[in-house]
Amino acid sequence: MKTARTIAEVRHAVSTARAQGLSVGFVPTMGGLHAGHISLVEAARRACDFVVVSIFLNPTQFAPGEDLSTYPQSLEADLASCDAAGADLVFIPDVETMYPGNALTTVSVSQLTDTLCGQSRPTHFDGVCTVVTKLLNIVAPDKAFFGRKDFQQLTIITRMVADLDIPVQIVPCPIVRESDGLAMSTRNQRLSAESRAQAVSLHAALTEARDQIRQSHSPATEIIDAIEAYIRLNAPDGEIDYIQIIDPETLCDVETTDNGVLIALAVKFPGARLIDNMLVDSEPRSQ
Ligand code: PAJ
Repeated sequence: MKTARTIAEVRHAVSTARAQGLSVGFVPTMGGLHAGHISLVEAARRACDFVVVSIFLNPTQFAPGEDLSTYPQSLEADLASCDAAGADLVFIPDVETMYPGNALTTVSVSQLTDTLCGQSRPTHFDGVCTVVTKLLNIVAPDKAFFGRKDFQQLTIITRMVADLDIPVQIVPCPIVRESDGLAMSTRNQRLSAESRAQAVSLHAALTEARDQIRQSHSPATEIIDAIEAYIRLNAPDGEIDYIQIIDPETLCDVETTDNGVLIALAVKFPGARLIDNMLVDSEPRSQ
């Protein structure tokens, strides 16, 4: 496995691979890697001949007051796990390399960014879309792998590459969870033991809600109320940011739960804001 710190090095390595007829897979990350990230590298390894991972803690997707300065970083361990998962090249640019001057261009997707995390993080997705566009232009992969853990991000990026004719296939990957159900996240390590124990209730609430939808197709508001009550009871340290039931394609709120829906939530614990979601496929009503 090689590492590259400059854009020129990445372009050279990728064009050398391409000249050999290899397909290129790409996994963008912000470091602090865990098994969720590594599952994307493994998916890229299975699907492509030459696998590029980027590790870049992108400052433009953090608003002032958010956790940029305390975001967990673990470069040495990250490189070891990328190597073990079969990455060929890891791009580790510094901020100067990605943002050398006063850039005048921002990539901004409308509508899809107004809801869910976009409500409490109004500048976040402009930062994500701009850096992902730059990374896709630098690496120029055939396929790029994104986790369903960040479902809204995945939806926005899928739309962005379609709208901008960026020649890449976005590959969605399943959420990887801890054994008790908590969605893996770099931020989990900042939870106190108490909050960590309470945080399991996010997945538990989603699972109960999914079962309730499958059994009774209750109206969305009823399901949301039940999730809220469950989290308030079982995660007193958590402050609910949002709980929404949406159409997984448009991300618009739904009133009924008869068709396939996505339940998405965000809860702020001291030290870490956690997000999770669950897709509920449309299924015949179980009696
Ligand atoms: P980061 O939070 O490091 O996540 C990198 C990728 O790993 C994303 O596609 C995310 O959805 C995926 N991921 C994280 N936790 C996961 C889990 N438990 N299961 C499956 N996939 C998981 O997302 C970002 O970085 C940034 O916004 C980025 C796209 C790199 C742009 O800066």
